[in-house]
Amino acid sequence: MLVIGIESSCDETGVALVDASGQGVPVLLSHALHSQIDMHQAYGGVVPELASRDHIRRVLPLIEEVAARAQRTLAQVDVVAYTRGPGLAGALLVGAGVACALAAALGKPVVGVHHLEGHLLSPFLSADPPEFAFVALLVSGGHTQLMRVDRVGSYELLGETIDDAAGEAFDKSAKLLGLPYPGGPALAKLALQGDALAFKLPRPLLHSGDLDFSFSGLKTAVLTQARKLGEVMSDKNKADLAASTQAAIVEVLVKKSLKALEQTGLKRLVVAGGVGANTLLREQLNDACQKRGIRVHYPELHLCTDNGAMIALAAGMRLQAGMAQINTAYSFDVKPRWPLGLLAA
Ligand code: KG4
Ligand code: ZN
Repeated sequence: MLVIGIESSCDETGVALVDASGQGVPVLLSHALHSQIDMHQAYGGVVPELASRDHIRRVLPLIEEVAARAQRTLAQVDVVAYTRGPGLAGALLVGAGVACALAAALGKPVVGVHHLEGHLLSPFLSADPPEFAFVALLVSGGHTQLMRVDRVGSYELLGETIDDAAGEAFDKSAKLLGLPYPGGPALAKLALQGDALAFKLPRPLLHSGDLDFSFSGLKTAVLTQARKLGEVMSDKNKADLAASTQAAIVEVLVKKSLKALEQTGLKRLVVAGGVGANTLLREQLNDACQKRGIRVHYPELHLCTDNGAMIALAAGMRLQAGMAQINTAYSFDVKPRWPLGLLAA
């Protein structure tokens, strides 16, 4: 069963083809991505209207590219999957519209996929795929959540951020330091040259006893510290502040993940979403989990941030489990806000 997946929820147009025949993990045949980072960089963040227009420009050539790379024709596609939400409404509508039009033209069914389910399942495409059940740490630009995942479609929210997401904390702090968008990778790079102990920054909710997060206070603390250092910060101060910020975010993510593992008694952790690409987070999680006999799984680095492969994969896994909501009427809606817990099992 050949599934084509289309991702267009934010600033990346991604398309992929997976083979979801049988009951094994779907196999990624090809994927292609166009990132809009360069286009949005001039504005310091994603401009939704520009994002939608660029998805329109990119999506059809990317569909042709993945078919050619996999040496398949579109006529061989059995199911068309697209990101139904959450994300930017206009951007989502491009993927949804194209997916339904393509499916209608091919006479094949269409499946709307939850973007976060895609992230959550993306480690199944890695060389070291996880087994159910596991705790998932979902850390993207818009979400920071800990979940208990027992099987495809069974996502129990254990805790989440009450304000900013971890990715947002990276992005906003980076902006304060004058770094380009997207701030996460830029801040992580600068932090390599800094001293993480140079500035004492808050670790919000670290000892709250629950599994919730809060990152908005951290951004304010970074701003206060930056102001104290004066208008023109030295390169050393900047690097130290970047390193201290990263250390604060990572410490909270690691401690809360360990707490979730302890509470659930599970011995497996899956990390997904853009912030999952962060090297310090990976190092500290690997270290802490190794000491406790816990296995940690990540997506391949290039599949941490948004991509079409995770959308095709999630649709494929749902189809295999007999849990996909199949649409053959080709009417579509998008869900810009869509809590993962509300996903019908
Ligand atoms: O999952 P994603 O690509 O998009 C959303 O669905 O939100 O996540 C993007 C987020 C951004 O906030 C970006 O700054 C962050 O992931 N990010 C990183 C790194 N790479 C991406 N944050 C820290 N370190 C990184 N290496
Ligand atoms: Zn994402």
